[in-house]
Order: sequence, then structure tokens, then C-alpha cells
Amino acid sequence: MANYGHFDDAHREFVISRPDTPLPWLNYLGQDEFFGLCTQTAGGYSFWKDAKLRRITRYRYNNNPMDNDGRFLYVKQGNSIWNPGWKPTRTKLDAFECRHGLGYSRITGKKDGIEVEQLMFVPPQENLEIWKVSVRNKTKKPQKLSLFSFVEFCSFEALNDMTNYQRTYSIGEVEIEDSAIYHKTEYRERRNHYALFGCTRKIDGYDTSRDAFVGVHNGLHDPKAVLAGKCTNSHAYGWNPVGAHQINLTLKPGQEETFAFVLAYIDQGDLPKFDAPFVMNKVKGREILKKYSDPAAVEAAFTAVKARWEELLSTYQAPSVPNEHLQRMVNTWNQVQCMATFNLSRSASGYETGIGRGMGYRDSNQDILGFVHLLPERARQRILDIASTQLSDGTCFHQYQPLTKKGNADIGGDFNDDPLWLVLSTCAYIRETGDVTILDEVCGYADKPGSKDSLLHHIETSIAYTLNNRGPHNLPLIGHADWNDCLNLNCFSKEPNESFQTTGDVKGSKAESVMIAGLFLYAARDLVGLYKFMGQAADATRVQGYYDDMLKTVEEQAWDGAWYTRAFDADSNPVGSKSCKEGKIYIESQAWCVLGGAGQTNGRAKKALQAVDKYLYTPEHGCALQYPPYSTYHLELGEVSSYPPGYKENAGVFSHNNTWIHIGWTMFGEGDKALEYYLSICPSAKKDHDKYRSEPYVYAQMTASQFSPTPGEGKNSWLTGTGAWSFVVASQSILGVQPDFTGLRIDPCVPKKWKGFSVTRKFRGVTYSITVKNPKGKSKGVKSLVVDGKKIAGNVIPLPTDGRTAVKVEVTLGA
Ligand code: GLC
Ligand code: GLC
Repeated sequence: MANYGHFDDAHREFVISRPDTPLPWLNYLGQDEFFGLCTQTAGGYSFWKDAKLRRITRYRYNNNPMDNDGRFLYVKQGNSIWNPGWKPTRTKLDAFECRHGLGYSRITGKKDGIEVEQLMFVPPQENLEIWKVSVRNKTKKPQKLSLFSFVEFCSFEALNDMTNYQRTYSIGEVEIEDSAIYHKTEYRERRNHYALFGCTRKIDGYDTSRDAFVGVHNGLHDPKAVLAGKCTNSHAYGWNPVGAHQINLTLKPGQEETFAFVLAYIDQGDLPKFDAPFVMNKVKGREILKKYSDPAAVEAAFTAVKARWEELLSTYQAPSVPNEHLQRMVNTWNQVQCMATFNLSRSASGYETGIGRGMGYRDSNQDILGFVHLLPERARQRILDIASTQLSDGTCFHQYQPLTKKGNADIGGDFNDDPLWLVLSTCAYIRETGDVTILDEVCGYADKPGSKDSLLHHIETSIAYTLNNRGPHNLPLIGHADWNDCLNLNCFSKEPNESFQTTGDVKGSKAESVMIAGLFLYAARDLVGLYKFMGQAADATRVQGYYDDMLKTVEEQAWDGAWYTRAFDADSNPVGSKSCKEGKIYIESQAWCVLGGAGQTNGRAKKALQAVDKYLYTPEHGCALQYPPYSTYHLELGEVSSYPPGYKENAGVFSHNNTWIHIGWTMFGEGDKALEYYLSICPSAKKDHDKYRSEPYVYAQMTASQFSPTPGEGKNSWLTGTGAWSFVVASQSILGVQPDFTGLRIDPCVPKKWKGFSVTRKFRGVTYSITVKNPKGKSKGVKSLVVDGKKIAGNVIPLPTDGRTAVKVEVTLGA
């Protein structure tokens, strides 16, 4: 079993010690508007706000070799050419290390006594990335070498850029000024933005034509200019503009040279566009390069990146958790993943190409659950943006583009779980902040331009939508699909070239979802709590009535004897029932019925979890989505039965839904089970990386299950709802620090042998230092809560009324 690296927890880094990881191991740079994807070999690309409409550098997905475009430095020394990140030349290095940190990646490669370090990051609130480069002569002799930088520009609209060559080969334009290469394709006409790739040091040459630098019949592994040791100072006219600099260095023994490259996205704003015909006004670009030509400015920017992360993470830290995996995930990497999913939804990753999906309605709402504690202001704005893509009948655009914030008409709406997630995100925001003014914010409906309805109106519309759209069993209609995008019960698709999701008329269709019923219970209960908090007793009672009614329906219609049925298809036949030949039991209906409070008084909830344990769970990989997998395609079920058994929604381990089961176990005080399940999908706990293949520091959407030929293989890492929900599991359900409307609720559910742990939680302006002790070896139940020396009844810490900003909390388990 190969060893690819290790966690450096003290520095919050993952250290990759060899470049040939089983798959590219990715990190993200940036967290405001400028983003970069960066792998351990410096692969990846950058974009501003929207990976489809404002892509700055090119990336060829599913390339072979995989991950072959990026932020490259080449060294030419004597006859040898190499990259500090190994790729694209793949020249064998004497030493390699990549440290993926929070918002930065630092790659160091060494060969023949020359060490090159490339530190890449995006300074807070700036639309640029910096590569700080240090070249060191580690030998006892003077050394001569040339260093080349290389990026390939994208003409901003990524889809057009990779498909419409009859146009793009003629539009490329650049300007060069000293060490600054300006990419200004389409700037003469409708664009008011351009890219800059500059060096803070004097250069010895440059190229902007790919044909000149790489060559038409060469590859990035043997670029012509690097082989020749000389750039040609080419000027790109059309074809493929690139940015490459050449720097010749002579280093004394032990000498180091440090400088930086800056890749920026620049919006011209109100400045005049041109200095002269064909000559762009470059004032902003010059200012940026001037600023970062001061090494102190580069240092300060990097310090700011680190300081900002420390500040963000200080909102929730659990420094003494008895399990190392849970500890590092909850303190660092899980929160980092939550930032990425919040920012990018499911748009740009190693698996999402940035041109497809934009932001997802249900995805973004769920992402808020794991993000809201970090930057509640941004969560607030996002909730209002999402709500504005809802239609006045309650349906929602399933996806929208981040740049325009407009719903994506191709996929449309009618995914009937979508509206309900808005209730969860809004309640999570209010629990975190206490700020009910968000409910009064005006956010119109997408089909009624200028409408003045409030967020609360949207929430009531969502609830009403589920209530008003029910089928023969009085259960919610599923529409195109529910959370399980592949449960297409109204689609009946026979043609390979049509969409599983949007084919099939959902209007007169009767298929119903038990999962949506469970989600409705959860959302309605949330809303009851909110109305009570706001003192609106009558509304609380009204919504409680909806809850009771739906609960009755679930218990009457959806119990299958040992678990909850998943759905009823268009002919009202059960899906996920013992009467089915395959797909007898599904995970989502167990999860959401339990989470929504079904089965509490009649023992069914516990039975449902036990059925998951019996049929779906393995300690090595987690829970499969259903059992048994479908071995043939079912017209009446759709995409779910299209995947080969054990992958994706056909009985793969879909990590996202596992987290709900983890919460389920904590509801029953099963702390040992909850941690065991938590670890079963935890990337940090994966042992065999050749088998798992995905990054060990972030969750993958999917792991091939026990029903597949390749069990344990992780796929689709980073952008998954698992991020947010796992943080909820670890921080709230296991460690038990739960933001609630009136204060922090403390309700841990831990393994019996844990003796205790502590959490620091910043909440509504107060820092709570919480120590939990477990002298009697219990899993759940707060026996005593002492707040600043005073014993408190119950388990909610009252908000201080005397202006205290630091509160000490001592918790003893064992009620
Ligand atoms: C993907 C989608 C998400 C969906 C899930 C299950 O993760 O982004 O919206 O719920 O698949 O189909
Ligand atoms: C979800 C599923 C994926 C499916 C897609 C369709 O993301 O995970 O399998 O293809 O939905 O939109």
C-alpha cells in the first residue's frame, strides 16, 4: 500500500509526499469572487465568480494524462527540463512535496541541487492569484538555469472556448508591456474586463502564442521554447493566447531568489477603455503589478489569507476530541469543504466542469447548514438570492447561474423537494443569528418580475406547495425527482438521448415521495419552532396541524412492516418495499421519516435504523443507498436503475444521505454507533488510498459499495452535500453544540468510553468555552449545565443579558 502523504494538523495542512496520487488531489484557492482549482501537481484553472462565463485559464477535463493543464513553472538546466510539481514533464525529481493548506497550496520540487518552491493563493477580497516563487541553489557551486512560467488563457466563456473554434481561433488578442502579459480577447467589443499575467521581476523573454511556446506537434511535456531554452517574444493574433515568461538566473552557492507572478481578472469599471486605438487602458493592471512588486505586499497578502481562515475557524473549535479523525475534520477540513460547497455549489471541481450545473436550489440551501456559522451575512444574501429563483406557485428553478442569479430554463423546475429546503436554510440562519428581519426582506418570485413578497411568504408558499400537491396516498407528489435526482418515477425514458430528469410530463402524474413527506415533517417542525420564537402562537398551531396531518399519513401509508417505503410510482406501486424484487429498502425514507419525527412513539424509527444497519451498512464503506441494487433498467424508475449495481444512486454509498442516518443514531442516544458510522465514510479514516483513490481530507460524493466490483473506491470529491451535513453531524449531533433560537443548546451524543472533550463556540457575539465531562460513561443526556459558575435548568445556555462576551460552560453527561 503506497503512502501518499499525511495530515499536518498543527499547520492545518495535508502534505502530499509524492506527485503520482491515485487521482488528482485538489485544493481550492480563493473564497470571495476569484477562485482557483489547484492540484498537487499545480494542475487546475482559475475563474471569476462563474466558471462558465468568466473563465480565466483553460482546463481540459477528462484529459489523458489526467489533469494536464495548470499553473506551470518549468526549469531548464543544462539539458534537463523539469517542473517543481512534476507535471507536465514528469521528469523524476529528487524531492517533491505539496502542502495543501487553507486557501493555498505550496509545491516544492528539487532536482540536481536546485529547489523551486511555488506558493499559490488568492488574497482576501482581491480578484487575483499570486504565485510566490523561490528558487534556491542548494549546491556548493554557482548554478545557471532558466525558469519559465506558463498559463493558457481561456476566452472567458468556457463552453464557447472549447467548442467554437471557427470563431475562437480568430478572436484572441493580447498586449505586452514589460513583464505584463494582457489577455484581452473580445475586449474591443462587449467585454469590459481582461486578464493580466505578470511577473514582479525583470524578465528575459516571453511568449503569448501557444504555437510558438509549445509548438503545434509538441505537448506541454516538451514545449519547444523550454527545450530551446529561449522564448521567442511571440505575439498572439488569434489561435491560442498563452502567457509565458522566461527568467534567467545565476545563483551563487546557497543563494535564493524570490519573486512573484500575478494572475488577475480586471474589470475596467468606469475607466476609459482605450488609451489609443487598439491600445487598452492598462492603469489597473499596472497598479496591481506595482503593488505586488514589493515582497512585503506579497507576504502581507499571504498572512491575510491565513489570518482570515484562523478567524473563521475560531467560530467552532473542538481541541480535545478523543477521536483524531473527527477532531481534524470538524476543526479544519470539513469547514474548508463547507466553504467550497457554499461558494461553488456543484459547479467547478475535478468532476464538475464549471459549464454545466451552476448553483443548485436544493444543494445551496443545504450547503448553508454547514456554512452559516462562518459568515452569516453571506448566508443571508444567498438565502435571498435562492428564494428569488422560486416561482409564485411554489416550484423553483432547480439550478441558476451565479453570475446572473437567473434560473436555468433548460432544466426548469418541478423537483418537488426543492421548495422545502429553503425552510431549513432560513431556520438555520435565524438559529445562528437570531435575526428574524430576514423574513421581511422583499424577494420577488421569478415569474413575477417586480413582485414584493417577503421571504416568509416564500416559506409559506413552499409549505403550501407540498400540502397542495399530493397523490393517491395523500403523500407529496415527487415531480421530476426528489433529493434523489435519479428517482424519475414519471419519466419513462426509452431514448438514450433524452434527459432522465426532464422527460415525461409531471403535470398529471401521480408518483409520490415518502422522503418528501419526511422532509416536510422536518421543515414544518422547524417552522413551528420559528413561529413560537416570534411569538406567533396561532401560526405555530396552524403549522403544527399540517405536521400532525402529514405524520398521520406517513404512519398510515408508508410503513412497510420493518422500514419506511421509499415512494409510490406512477401506477401507485410501492418503491423500496419488501414486495419489490430489487430496491426493497432505500436509505432516504428511513432517514427523513426518522429526522422528521415519525416512528417516535411506536418504535418504528428505531426499527427503520436497524433495517439500515442490517441491509445497507458496512463498517468499511458506509451505507449503500438501497438494497438490492437494480440489475436491469426499470422504465418506471428511471436513472436510478441506469447505473451499474453499486455505483451512484443504484446502491452506491452516497455519502450525503449517510449523514442523515448518523443524526438518526444520535437521536436515539446511540453514541457508539453514531461515531462508528461517522468514521465509515470519513475520508481521514480511509486507510488504503490506492483503493479509495480520492482526497483523504474532503468528502467524496460517492464510494463504490459492497455491491459493486470495486468496493471502496471514492469518486466525485469536494462538491457534495456531505460537506455541510457532516459538519452538522460532528459539531451538533455528536459533539452536541447546537445553535437554537433562544441560545446554544447542549446535547452531545458520544461513545460511552469518551471521558470528555471541549468546544469553543462563538455565537451571537459571545465566545462560549464549553467543557463536557462524562464521568459515568454515558452516551447522551445532560445531567448538569453550569454557566459561569451557576447551575442552569435544562440544556439551553441563556444568552447573556449583561454584556458578557465570554462565557464558561461546564457540562456533565449522565442524566
Ligand atoms: C447530487 C446532486 C444533488 C442530489 C444528489 C442525489 O449530489 O447535486 O442535488 O440530491 O446528487 O441525487
Ligand atoms: C444527481 C446525480 C447524478 C445525476 C444528476 C442528474 O447529481 O448524482 O447521478 O446524473 O443528478 O441531474
